[in-house]
Amino acid sequence: MIIAIDGPAAAGKGTLAQNLAKHFKYAFLDTGRLYRAVGYAVLQAGKDPSDEAEATKAAKAFDPKTINAILKNPALRDEATGNAASKVAVIPSVREALLQLQRDFAEHPFFEDGEPAKGAVLDGRDIGTVVCPKADVKFFVTASAEVRADRRFKELQDAGKPADYDKILKDIKERDERDSNRATAPLKPAEDAYVLDTSKMNAVQAYQAALDFIAIDHA
Ligand code: CDP
Repeated sequence: MIIAIDGPAAAGKGTLAQNLAKHFKYAFLDTGRLYRAVGYAVLQAGKDPSDEAEATKAAKAFDPKTINAILKNPALRDEATGNAASKVAVIPSVREALLQLQRDFAEHPFFEDGEPAKGAVLDGRDIGTVVCPKADVKFFVTASAEVRADRRFKELQDAGKPADYDKILKDIKERDERDSNRATAPLKPAEDAYVLDTSKMNAVQAYQAALDFIAIDHA
């Protein structure tokens, strides 16, 4: 069983994906973290995330065995890393290098301790369209840019980090633009995706709506 969750930045994909993974006892992969890890590696090397050769080298250097440890790095959550991620994500050879890894996880999902799971939840931008076009359930989670910026703002404030709403909104709009207009695997709902607009929902309501959909669709 594969559940694919796509959508723009800060739409609540991650929270929904984790809640569903817990509910069904499936393994979860936040594919954005893969792109973030590549962006982070390029920044750490003092290079430009738009540099095709550097970004591709970083993407190819991934060792699936150590993936959990790499993806745990808290620095991956920074906004600067998110922006670098969306720059490396435009490069087709970077996407290509990360594709098999994601498909392998979907086919043979495993938990953090290495134990195999009977299902997978993957969240990202192109899971339902490119990575797992045959996923059993597909969600496209979205919300207005203003609502998403407000959520990021509150997340940063709660974490005691500096937060500037206008800058966050500008970054989100820029990232939406880049993610939606790139030639390879752009952000868009799969034709058979269930679109969940969470602008007026909290995390619990979005989770409930997703469970209701799965119950009806897979009854
Ligand atoms: O958490 P947030 O929604 O801000 O972003 P993320 O899911 O961590 O992804 C960071 C960036 O990676 C996105 O802006 C996309 O450009 C890219 N990405 C992608 O291209 N394809 C994916 N499957 C996942 C992420």
